[in-house]
Amino acid sequence: VQKHQNQIIAIDGPAGSGKSTAARLLAPRVDFLHVDTGAIYRTLTLLAIEGNIDLDNQQALAALVPQLNISFKTASDRILVFSGDREVSNEIRNPELTAQVHFAAASPLVRQALQPLQRSFAVSHSVVMEGRDIGTVIFPDADLKFFLDAPLKSRAERRWRELQAKGEKISLQEVEADQTARDKNDTDRQTAPLRAAEDAIVVDTGLYDIDGMVEELERIVRSKLAIPAGAEEQS
Ligand code: DC
Repeated sequence: VQKHQNQIIAIDGPAGSGKSTAARLLAPRVDFLHVDTGAIYRTLTLLAIEGNIDLDNQQALAALVPQLNISFKTASDRILVFSGDREVSNEIRNPELTAQVHFAAASPLVRQALQPLQRSFAVSHSVVMEGRDIGTVIFPDADLKFFLDAPLKSRAERRWRELQAKGEKISLQEVEADQTARDKNDTDRQTAPLRAAEDAIVVDTGLYDIDGMVEELERIVRSKLAIPAGAEEQS
């Protein structure tokens, strides 16, 4: 087996831009590991809530980071997130927890503490890593950077449809308000605010359906990176 250098594809963008779906579908096509860094902030928040830790207490939150043992498995239609042996995929995405993740995300101490963990995924694998600051902070030297964006309206609609499908009772207006608040949290924070890296390829996901978007991303990846033979036949 020929060894090759691990490669890193960074995908950043706001909530609801479709980056999770894009990353999940792109990764197996090029035989890379999909790493959802939002899930790391979410799992940390879950452990803090369960441990009765004050989410305002940055030191206490950061002190939980060494206990994180997160892994990912790709299921047919979504990514499964594990904290140790325990599957936490659903718990970390419920609306109550989602409304609390900003404490961890806004904390410089927590962000700092999470850097080595995020980087460690690329030690043993080529990765498609998605988040807010992957191309700017975590892997400024990523082999390829995408910034996925779409107008607020279409992002809110996308999220709303996802939540409907899961049986969540929430109005489109609520989702839009929630999205606006999360955008503001992500964009205005002092540490690692959401922005496109200078060398990121910006893609407006509102212009594509899911299949079209993934094909476009894969086309760009194959034109820019040497993808090892054997990864072509996957879909
Ligand atoms: O992508 P998501 O909705 O699962 O992200 C959850 C939260 O974590 C969201 O508030 C943004 C934040 N986040 C971040 O600040 N940096 C990342 N690299 C990933 C997520």
